[in-house]
Formats: sequence, structure tokens, C-alpha cells
Amino acid sequence: MTRIFSGIKPTGHLTLGNYLGALRRWVEVDQHEADALFSVVDLHALTIDHDPARVRRLSRQAATMMLAAGLDPELCTLFVQSHVDEHTRLSYLLECTATDGELRRMIQYKEKSAPARAAGQSVRVSLLTYPALMAADILAYGTDEVPVGEDQTQHVELARDLAVRFNQRYGHTFTVPKATHPSVAARVMDLQDPTSKMGKSHESGAGIIYLLDDADVVRKKVMRAVTDSGTDVAYDRENSPGIANLLEILASCSGGNPMEPAGVYESYGALKKDTADAVVELLRPIRERYAELAADAGHVDEVVKKGAERARGMARPRVNAAYEAIGLLPG
Ligand code: TYM
Repeated sequence: MTRIFSGIKPTGHLTLGNYLGALRRWVEVDQHEADALFSVVDLHALTIDHDPARVRRLSRQAATMMLAAGLDPELCTLFVQSHVDEHTRLSYLLECTATDGELRRMIQYKEKSAPARAAGQSVRVSLLTYPALMAADILAYGTDEVPVGEDQTQHVELARDLAVRFNQRYGHTFTVPKATHPSVAARVMDLQDPTSKMGKSHESGAGIIYLLDDADVVRKKVMRAVTDSGTDVAYDRENSPGIANLLEILASCSGGNPMEPAGVYESYGALKKDTADAVVELLRPIRERYAELAADAGHVDEVVKKGAERARGMARPRVNAAYEAIGLLPG
């Protein structure tokens, strides 16, 4: 059976990008068809300035949201990364496999470290080593496929390279994973700045739809989405990124093709209205289920505790094998 691993980092409230780019497929396809593990990758949230209480709160919130969206602990393994020591144990071996040049080339490292440096702030070493930990998340489980949004492709490619290199140097230890993406909405863009990704922690939330936004807020954000000065509703990512983004969101919500509704609409307003309606309907059941689950934190804690036990059992033999293969004396 195909082994799948993927994760969400608790650095902000989950967004429509997280849902359409990743979580939705985990729920609708992956947990049914594969042996799937999904993790709240909390250690990754410590790579930038963080508030301890907020990370703790967001971690529980992310796990709750993953359940509310439909992950079923009977069908998949849901756990919190820091509960399974094997991730950090393996990460060190992969830091000893990766080169600093390789890590410095990562787009995410460049994007996050450059502004911090420009503002005279220091950059945590863990921001640089982040992809080694992410590779450990993936490789510890013998993962075949990593269902992610487009922004994570480079990191998964590095995990592949590290798996191949480790296997060549020390003997076959790791499965070589590959990234998979949804056919539509693999990169949902910010509604106020459709040339940049809709991310959890963009400064103003005006261009971001959070999964917990209520119907009125969603409608306002979509209706105020930046478009361009034309009037034609055509799918053209290059010249009309705002409209293309709305068409992708609409198609993804309604299971269609972004090219199809283009041409059907005579005005941007009509497209926005239908997109807002589709998003509201998509999120309604998730918000309702979230409210029920959030009232019972004990249940969520229990789910992730059991998930961590299962995950540990799956990761330990391979990580121990890697320790031995690389030349460490078995304890
Ligand atoms: P994170 O927490 O930023 O995002 C979680 C998932 O959501 C996808 N995503 C998007 N997809 C489409 N459009 C968007 N605007 C959008 N924003 C986010 C991401 O691609 C991702 O699939 N480094 C990872 C977390 C991670 C991980 C892993 C993932 C750590 N270890 C191992 C897979 C396997 C991250 O920061 O995702």
C-alpha cells in the first residue's frame, strides 16, 4: 500500500490555501486509498520568532481543524511532530548528509531570511536546517508520496536527493519519495496581492480566507479581491492573475475546471459572487464541526496521543537502521 506523509505547520490560522492545496485531498482521497500519516509539524514553527503560548494554541487548533475537515483517526494517523522523537533524531543524520549550499538555495530560506536580515534581525539556524527536518519527517516513514501545495515542491525534491545520497553512501535505507499536487488550486494566491501566495501569516489578513472566517467575512474578502482594470473573465494567470485565482478557487470548490466558467461570466462582480457563495458553502460544515470539536479538547488530545504512539512504532525501526548504517554504535 502506498505510504503517504504530509504536514501543516502551526504558524497561523489555517487558510483556504491549506485546504484546497493539501488538506482536502488528504480527507477525500489519501486517507481512503493509502496508508497515510498527517502531522501538525510544530517544531517547524520554532524557526522564526515565536510566542510559546501561541504555538501551543495553534498546534491544538490545527489538529482540531484537521479533524473538522474530515481526517478520520480510524483511517489515518494524525499526530503532533514533537511527540515523536524520531523526527529530530533523523534530522541530525540528514544535516550530516545535506550541504550548506543546498540548504541556502531553498527559496523559502531566501524569502524568510533576507527581510529579517535587512531589518537588522538575526536568523535562527533552524530556518536554514528546516528542510533537513522536513526530509526527516518524510523519510522516517518510508513515504512514497507527499501530497502538498506547489510551494513545497523544492523541499520534497531535497528530501528525494538526501534519500538517494544516503542510500548510495550507506546502503539502502530510505524510500525515495515524490511530491504530488492537486490538479487545480495547487497555489492559491492572496486576494489582495494575486502575485503572492495566500499564506497563513501575511501581514494584513484582508487577502487571506481563513477556514474559521464566518460567511460575512468570506463574502467581504472575496468581493474586495483585487482584479485588474479589464472586464473580460478569462483564465490568464500571467495578465489577469486576480481573475485566474478566483476562477481556480471557484473551480476547486465546485469540482470543475478553471477554464470552463471563464466566458460564462459577463462581469467580475458575478464571478466574485459565485466564488464567495461556493467558498461559504464549502467551509460551512467544517466550521460547524470545528465548533463541536473545539468544545472537547480532551478528545483531540487523545487522538493525537494515540496517533503519536502509532507513528513512533512506524518510524523507530527505520531511524534505528539509519543510525546503524551511518556508522553509530547500536545502544
Ligand atoms: P504549510 O504549513 O505552509 O502548509 C501546509 C500545506 O498547505 C499547502 N499550502 C497551499 N497550497 C496551495 N495554495 C496555498 N496558498 C497554500 N498555502 C499552503 C502547502 O503546500 C502544504 O502542503 N513545510 C511545510 C510543512 C511540512 C511538511 C513536512 C509538509 C513540514 N514537514 C513534511 C509535507 C511533508 C509547510 O510549511 O506547510
